Amino acid sequence: MSAFPNTRLRRLRRTGALRSLVRETRLDLDDFVQPLFVGPDTRENPELPPLGRFSVADLSHEVEELARLGVSAVILFGIPDDKDEEGSGAWDEDGVVQRALRELRPRFPELLLLTDVCLCEYTSHGHCGVIRDGEVANDESLELIARAAVSHVEAGADAVCPSDMMDGRVAAIREQLPETPILAYSAKYASAFYGPFREAAESAPSFGDRRSYQMDPANVREALRECELDLAEGADVIMVKPALPYLDVIRAVRERLDAPLAAYNVSGEYAMVKAGARHGWLDERAAAIESLTAIKRAGADLVVSYWTKELATWL
Ligand code: PBG
Repeated sequence: MSAFPNTRLRRLRRTGALRSLVRETRLDLDDFVQPLFVGPDTRENPELPPLGRFSVADLSHEVEELARLGVSAVILFGIPDDKDEEGSGAWDEDGVVQRALRELRPRFPELLLLTDVCLCEYTSHGHCGVIRDGEVANDESLELIARAAVSHVEAGADAVCPSDMMDGRVAAIREQLPETPILAYSAKYASAFYGPFREAAESAPSFGDRRSYQMDPANVREALRECELDLAEGADVIMVKPALPYLDVIRAVRERLDAPLAAYNVSGEYAMVKAGARHGWLDERAAAIESLTAIKRAGADLVVSYWTKELATWL
């Protein structure tokens, strides 16, 4: 390889057209998924708009706008009126997510409707499974999680996304739903970056934390095992979450496995940039595009991001 002065890497950086010609990573709106919260009423979140919630009726207007902007996929999260020990709202035929799906499905036949499958928004204690003897019981939770997934598909979901981190939940869902794509939150870490989501979804655990089921942030080899196990149980897409503090995990999974790989650019990652921009310290659009490009560069095929709607207006 020749060196300076023959080689000058700045030659290809001189103009926008040259930079674009040799750009290695591009953002395509079709690779992005917008999270949407649906609850009994509409509540704006002025500081973090995509973390507000919509009533079933108002959700249609928002989705209409997203579809008009070219967004091709959304993931629904439910905030129920009532919570109980088992999280029965998660599989209630008349639950918020099920009603939203029945409303949206016929109106937006082209739009991909994904659903988050978890109990934490529906349990009175806020954990992602049922509690037995003070602990989150794995095997007993599986049937309930699978029941929630089935009810989403019956109401019109295109794909289900289990985020609970119980062992064996992909197999439990797969047994009930042989034809449905499963996007598994495979390497989901016990992260401090879920704060704004838990406030929006009212899903913070009422005791303890999620470290007995979500992954230890220090581990990467374990993430590969989680992804391999989910694929063996029948997952179609695997996911790493959060995204920005875990770009090395995204890269490691991409190098080891050939399945489609998703990354979740979580609420805390979004809120940090928003807050920085509000203080005048960051240019939100530039920081968002740089962040999303980094997630794709690390190896993610698709990205769940609160910026999806804005990205649609930026691209
Ligand atoms: C539900 C779930 C969570 C997120 C997605 N699905 C919260 C959690 O595990 O506490 C977090 C998403 C975000 O922070 O944007 N289990």
